[in-house]
Amino acid sequence: MDINTEKFKSMKQIIKLIILISFFTVSLSAVKAAESYEKEVLGSSLVMPWEPKLALNEFPSHDPSIENGKWVYKQNCAQCHGDHPKDGFLSKKMMRARSPEEQYEVIKNGNAKGMPGFKDKLSRDEMWDALMYTRAEILGYYKLNSDELAKMSSIFGGNCAVCHGTRGHGDGNLHKALKPMPANFNMFERLYTRTDNKLHKELTHGIPWTAMPAWKNRIDFDQGYKFDEEMIWKLVRYVRQFGFSQELDRLDLGRKNLEEYKKSLETENKG
Ligand code: HEC
Ligand code: HEC
Repeated sequence: MDINTEKFKSMKQIIKLIILISFFTVSLSAVKAAESYEKEVLGSSLVMPWEPKLALNEFPSHDPSIENGKWVYKQNCAQCHGDHPKDGFLSKKMMRARSPEEQYEVIKNGNAKGMPGFKDKLSRDEMWDALMYTRAEILGYYKLNSDELAKMSSIFGGNCAVCHGTRGHGDGNLHKALKPMPANFNMFERLYTRTDNKLHKELTHGIPWTAMPAWKNRIDFDQGYKFDEEMIWKLVRYVRQFGFSQELDRLDLGRKNLEEYKKSLETENKG
């Protein structure tokens, strides 16, 4: 009987030890969870919670120009992707699942599926222009001064601008009161790390622990429309268009003088 009591005592100690260890493990993972919560959710106080994969100096130095991109595309991409990217082999579904950042990397360095790298041929901004033109063509974009754009700006103005600002800079009337602050859609190193699918999901369900509401199935009785799936895709496109250089596109110029650029390529080809 004595021995049994002895055994019983040491059993008790082992159980105590196990309880102690599991307590530490639990509290350690709680600290870790709190840390990642802070990083992911309260992150706006940190410098960059969305952690781009590209170096900051690889993002566009100006707003990409669709007009310029169209031209770069014709010269460098059309032979494989077709005269219009939307008639080629890149599908809408695939484009929605890929972030601009990931695709820039492919255009720069190429991939094993037969996409050549352009880093020795095109400048960083030319690659971005061609990519954003390709994306805009396949995923759709709003033509300047179109009725569609006007309608979407009024929907954005009525529902989103109070936080995100009318030009999407994250500077709406409410922005100072919010933590994290509303997203700035003009910030490449944030928005270009996101896929369209992710933006669609965030718009549909909202972002937990932030002021970003879920929009799914809301109804705007004033203007008479519903935030159905299609409307949410339209909003994704709308959010994306902030980063385009529309001022320059309107002048049909791109950011460079295209004539000059074409000439410089011609002399390069001759030499
Ligand atoms: C020699 C033919 C060829 C040329 C030239 C070419 N591409 Fe591609 N591209 C491909 C192939 C093949 C793929 C792979 C398709 C796949 O991943 O299923 C691809 C993939 C892509 C993708 C998708 C990348 C991804 O992983 O999401 C983009 C975007 C793209 N190309 C844009 C361009 C642009 C912009 C240019 C011009 C600057 C260009 N391509 C020039 C053949 C080409
Ligand atoms: C009450 C304030 C508020 C309103 C209204 C609001 N948002 Fe947001 N939104 C936020 C905040 C705050 C964030 C940033 C959350 C974060 O940092 O994770 C955000 C994030 C987003 C994101 C995700 C950006 C990213 O980097 O992943 C998108 C897209 C977005 N908002 C679009 C919209 C659109 C479109 C509307 C209108 C239909 C809208 N928001 C209305 C506060 C708001």
